[in-house]
Amino acid sequence: MIVTIVGSQLGDEGKGGVVDLYGDAADVVVRYQGGDNAGHTVVSDGEKYKLSLVPSGAVRDKVGVLGNGCVVNPETLFSEIDALRERGLEPDVRVAERAHVILPYHRVLDGIEEDEKDDLAAGTTKRGIGPTYEDKAGRRGIRIGDLLDPDTLRERLEYVVPQKRALAEDVFGVETGEEFDVEHLYETYREYGERIADEGMAVDCGTYLQERIDAGDNVMLEGAQGTSIDIDHGIYPYVTSSNPTAGGACVGSGLGPTVVGQGEVIGIVKAYLSRVGTGPLPTELGGVEGQTPGYDSEAAEGEEEALATYIRDEGGEYGTVTGRPRRVGWLDIPMLRHAARASGFTGLVVNHLDVLAGLDEVNVGHAYEREGEELLTMPPTTEQWGECEATFRTFDGWPEVDWAEVAAEGYEALPENARTYLEYLEAELDVPVYAVGVGPGREETVVVEDPFE
Ligand code: IMP
Repeated sequence: MIVTIVGSQLGDEGKGGVVDLYGDAADVVVRYQGGDNAGHTVVSDGEKYKLSLVPSGAVRDKVGVLGNGCVVNPETLFSEIDALRERGLEPDVRVAERAHVILPYHRVLDGIEEDEKDDLAAGTTKRGIGPTYEDKAGRRGIRIGDLLDPDTLRERLEYVVPQKRALAEDVFGVETGEEFDVEHLYETYREYGERIADEGMAVDCGTYLQERIDAGDNVMLEGAQGTSIDIDHGIYPYVTSSNPTAGGACVGSGLGPTVVGQGEVIGIVKAYLSRVGTGPLPTELGGVEGQTPGYDSEAAEGEEEALATYIRDEGGEYGTVTGRPRRVGWLDIPMLRHAARASGFTGLVVNHLDVLAGLDEVNVGHAYEREGEELLTMPPTTEQWGECEATFRTFDGWPEVDWAEVAAEGYEALPENARTYLEYLEAELDVPVYAVGVGPGREETVVVEDPFE
């Protein structure tokens, strides 16, 4: 059985918790896109593990695979593996020979280009994700397989590094260091290659996964980020450089659509919206200075601001590093219709339903209005999206309850108004709810359906 997990909004929907919950039945957990731009925390036996690259299943004795669609920073990979080993774990991590390698110059260029872009900056994580995918498409990338073959590695570096150095120095006027030095890179990355070979980590991803499937193993394909920051289906150019949508699961793992499609594709939904960065957000509540377009904190007060603060506080929607408030908004149904179609969801997991508890009323953006027309799904350009006004539906709120008890009792124990909200969502997306997150812990989840059963 194959289960694919896809974020249906802007990332940070709580995918990690779902992978952890359903991943119990999985033998192999595969990441199919992205790199160390995705942060997830796994709690196992009371221990907290923070990972950005290693698939979370590796903490729970599953084989964790970085698929060919990923971009891999070996420095991050080995520091995460070493940190897990120091804590007594024996993570079994494999990496696709076809996956591309993030080199130090990619990170430097990511930073330079973000500063240069100004209004068009996507607010990247500066991990070199975009520049690495650019080189992949430009056929000048370096792959994991090349690290295992020193002659090829040297040849590739000798071709690409002078170009990168010229870009940094001559176009952007930045002084360069060892990040742009062929000898230094060759020595460092050859060593990473040796370690990958010594530890038997390199795999031909699609072939490896098919063999595991043929042997009867359960495979989970874990998407990072979310549909609205997918490079094709998201709010371009404020996107990441890969495909979190389910098509990416095929391309990025080497399994065909008919193989992935035999299983389930689970869309992960946060019960409200949160977003870091600039750009439109039609269902936004209140605003955040410097991020919400045209927002004036002096003029802003009243009920909407209070609501935004309530949701922000209940949901802990503040930057983990910066402490800055995140933008928040009501659930955006056109965004979800778009996500459900783009990935062909067969089930939904709705997270953070508890965050909305205690409100008198809960709104959802049911549709958009643009140029006198009603739109039920997201328009194709971000500029058009910015012109959309959300039209809302209002639901009666639900009370704060003992969520752990509710999770133990099951779906029927959810407050009636919360169930009405979920059933509306199911009807609009034509996809059943498989689970509902009502708290941060794995046990605080109401499980209706387990896709592996
Ligand atoms: P990049 O992936 O670092 O190139 O960043 C591109 C955009 O994707 C930026 O707006 C990031 O904030 C966003 N992004 C990347 N990874 C994540 C994630 O794991 N969660 C939420 N947003 C992300």
